[in-house]
Amino acid sequence: MNWYRDLLYPFLFSGLKADPETLKVQLLYALHRIGTTQAAAILSGLERLFCYRDPRLEVQLWGLTFPNPIGLAAGFDKDGLGLAVWPSLGFGFVEVGTVTAQAQPGNPKPRLFQLPQDRAGLNRMGFNNQGAAALAERLRQLPQRRIPIGINLGKSKLTPLEEAASDYLASFRLLKELGDYFVVNVSSPNTPGLRSLQESERLEPILVALQQENQGQKPLLVKIAPDLDWPQIDGILELAQTYRLAGIIATNTTLRRDNLKTRFLPGSRIPITEEAGGISGAPLRARSTEVIRYIHQASQGKLPIIGVGGIFTVADALEKLEAGASLLQVYTGWVYEGPGMLPRLLRALATHPRAAANSTLQFP
Ligand SMILES: Cc1cc2nc3c(=O)[nH]c(=O)nc-3n(C[C@H](O)[C@H](O)[C@H](O)COP(=O)(O)O)c2cc1C
Repeated sequence: MNWYRDLLYPFLFSGLKADPETLKVQLLYALHRIGTTQAAAILSGLERLFCYRDPRLEVQLWGLTFPNPIGLAAGFDKDGLGLAVWPSLGFGFVEVGTVTAQAQPGNPKPRLFQLPQDRAGLNRMGFNNQGAAALAERLRQLPQRRIPIGINLGKSKLTPLEEAASDYLASFRLLKELGDYFVVNVSSPNTPGLRSLQESERLEPILVALQQENQGQKPLLVKIAPDLDWPQIDGILELAQTYRLAGIIATNTTLRRDNLKTRFLPGSRIPITEEAGGISGAPLRARSTEVIRYIHQASQGKLPIIGVGGIFTVADALEKLEAGASLLQVYTGWVYEGPGMLPRLLRALATHPRAAANSTLQFP
């Protein structure tokens, strides 16, 4: 019996019909409070329950040590409220953001939905966040860093697409000393035109500006959409080589709606095929793995990949590692399965035949 998946989740979402965003915000502020008060008893209790440590799970990448390969994906903790607590929940790394140069409220609510029949989510948050300066302040106040922290950067909604490079650069300047790796997010479907920044001519000036400022100090990655075709991905891989990107995050949410069992969002009469937003979770799994495999093969295994999209089970995690991912991220699966998901996956990975004694996981 999984007490979270089988009891708490149905109680919250079906019984109480709780609004997913309200629950998430409440959780984040609770984590923030635990972190700022350094509530030692709570932190060590969480660690006992949810941390699974094994030297075979350690990943060395970009000069960083990841205690295990599973991180929290961008978008859950956009403003870094839970930073002091994520390590105690067992994550091997956390990616905060998407953060934008200007604070912004995001799209009108409701904008976050659970699709339980599909083990999926639909969101159209629109980069609601407190801005890069507020995140910088929060990172400065973090008492200690126990896991690598990635920072995911996006374009402010008010900034025209033509000025995207200077907008990303403004955020990077405020944050560059404070993150362990950085991500150019050009793949969220909820900021008008953002995905067009994946086109080579539009992405190039952003990478030029950031790498000039960066001077090789921090690993810089690009996060891509699952809806790109192979030639579009080839274009990004070419830029990755030219501008010495540290890796690719594959993938963000999808605009595709095929094979969904859900027909309507709660309280809506608009067919889900016409609802705005990106789909996360199980329906994304196979496509994101396909994209990971393509990038791994096209780059002859030389470009590190963070694999994300629809990971719920050990088999899902192994599938992405075998396709060529060096690290993994979870979001929707963690929401459905609960915090017990991490120790469950990590224990299985550590005892997998590919995890040789006293060495790290060797995939693919
Ligand atoms: C509510 C929600 C908000 C998200 N916000 C962001 C974001 O701000 N930036 C980003 O790069 N990805 C964002 N994502 C995408 C996730 O990081 C991840 O790429 C995607 O959900 C696929 O993983 P999953 O199937 O495990 O959820 C968001 C996803 C969800 C569900």
